[in-house]
Amino acid sequence: MTVLQDEFTLWNGLRMPKVGFGTWQITDAAEAYEATSSALACGYRHIDTARVYGNEDSVGRAVRDSGIPRSEIFVTSKLPAEIKDPDEALASFETTMATIGLEHLDCYLIHAPWPWHDIGRDCSAGNKAIWKAFEAIYRSGRAKAIGVSNFNVRDLAVILDGCSIKPMVNQIRFFIGNTQEEVVDFCRGEDIRVTAYSPLATGKILQHPDIVAVAQRCGKSVAQVCIRYVIQKGLGPLPKSTRAERIRENADVDFEMTSADMSLLDRLNDTDKVHHGQEAT
Ligand code: A2P
Repeated sequence: MTVLQDEFTLWNGLRMPKVGFGTWQITDAAEAYEATSSALACGYRHIDTARVYGNEDSVGRAVRDSGIPRSEIFVTSKLPAEIKDPDEALASFETTMATIGLEHLDCYLIHAPWPWHDIGRDCSAGNKAIWKAFEAIYRSGRAKAIGVSNFNVRDLAVILDGCSIKPMVNQIRFFIGNTQEEVVDFCRGEDIRVTAYSPLATGKILQHPDIVAVAQRCGKSVAQVCIRYVIQKGLGPLPKSTRAERIRENADVDFEMTSADMSLLDRLNDTDKVHHGQEAT
């Protein structure tokens, strides 16, 4: 599964494995430990967690217990979205580091531009302020890269205006039918790498008839087509599963979809809202 060895180089020179293992919604400690351990055993070298996922301790333990040199694993965590004060951000980073039990993170992200209970709120001043804390963390060497998540172009422009160190990564919700061209193009222009959480739309697009048809043509599973699509769009997918066989399947994506199939998938919209041609309730 050579795709697990493929890497992006971030603008600061740090190498980040293209495919990462997502741990959102794996809240049970034992399950998070087992899933992360399975991912590492089958060759994933990029693990994505967040303080709000409540599994940083299990993820850190799995990394430490894996026997794989720390330098070969890329670990991302995130600052809770509601924290918009620099001192609170620094304190939260310390909590993350104590919980995860690693000497450094490879990447530390602002989880979202606004609190989850108030999506869309203008937190420009707060985001600018916490970015200074992120720059300090980066300079300390305890996070080898810094970035953001769920940021749109306007949110990114706020950070880019006056920052000393620009973000290296923007992690967004991205899957077939939800491709967010505007922010992806903007990031490409700024040399900010885009990673994709929920590349399977948390499972909601796995029955989509057009995607199923492509999968049948390729002789691959629907999940593999969804993950391969993200790679061929130039992003880094972060698929999540708690099952060892699916964790393996999701990394077995060394195939190439034709430009005709890619165009067909590019034209799909609202894929997560439509099941078998019916509106979801
Ligand atoms: P499970 O954890 O039981 O395997 P996303 O990565 O978009 O967040 O999607 C995760 C969801 O998709 C989870 O519900 C996960 O369930 C399911 N899933 C992950 N991989 C596969 C797969 N290869 N085939 C079918 N469902 C999958």
